[in-house]
Amino acid sequence: MSGLRVLVTAGGTREPIDPVRFIGNRSSGKQGHALAEEAHERGAKVTLVTTTERLVSAGIDVVGVETAAEMEKAVLDQGGSADVIIMAAAVADFRPQAVAPEKLKKAEGVPRLVLEPTPDILTSLAAVKPQGQTLVGFAAETNGLHANARQKLVKKSLDLVVANDVSSSGVGFEHDTNEVVIITASGIKKDVALADKRAVASAILDAVLFHRSQP
Ligand code: PMT
Repeated sequence: MSGLRVLVTAGGTREPIDPVRFIGNRSSGKQGHALAEEAHERGAKVTLVTTTERLVSAGIDVVGVETAAEMEKAVLDQGGSADVIIMAAAVADFRPQAVAPEKLKKAEGVPRLVLEPTPDILTSLAAVKPQGQTLVGFAAETNGLHANARQKLVKKSLDLVVANDVSSSGVGFEHDTNEVVIITASGIKKDVALADKRAVASAILDAVLFHRSQP
């Protein structure tokens, strides 16, 4: 992958409620970091936008973020020159509309949280996608894996979607392993059996390179 610029996102965003509390999710960043490491080992110039503190090989550019808004800014800032963007991060779909400036006090009763949608980063990326860029999204599903993944592929204008059924054992959030189906906009489907996340990353990059080799 020498000569290619690859941007990967990893981890779960945290959307603050007050200075000490947040809405988050179970993403460990393992799958995104495995993608970044695999692309780096294959010779790509890699930027990793991550919410986690995981150790990263020297030579990978790391941008640390916390919220969906920060991730969107980092990805839009860095994404224009990328040949491949892979959104493996679990981005919150909703965030508190207002962040309390001080820690909410238990004595003041149960707070009412009003949520608002976060920006959809893939949709923002698709709107400014340069010619020749490959946009890869993930789909984390607990039912209707293929149908929901295809819907995300179309709705978010992706070139490839990597779908994982996160209700299956050993699959998705926090595990060292994953099992995915890779679906391309042209309708090619590839099943990747349960394997460690680095091997899954390798299969995803193979699919990306195959897609880029097609006229
Ligand atoms: O981090 P690990 O513990 O290793 O777990 C890996 C994983 C389960 C997080 C990973 O394999 C995975 O599925 N990542 C995507 C999780 C997710 O948010 O899926 P989704 O179906 O809700 O979102 C679809 C796509 O839209 C994703 O590429 C997501 O990054 C993107 N998105 C979502 C919301 C948002 N506001 N903007 C986005 O761009």
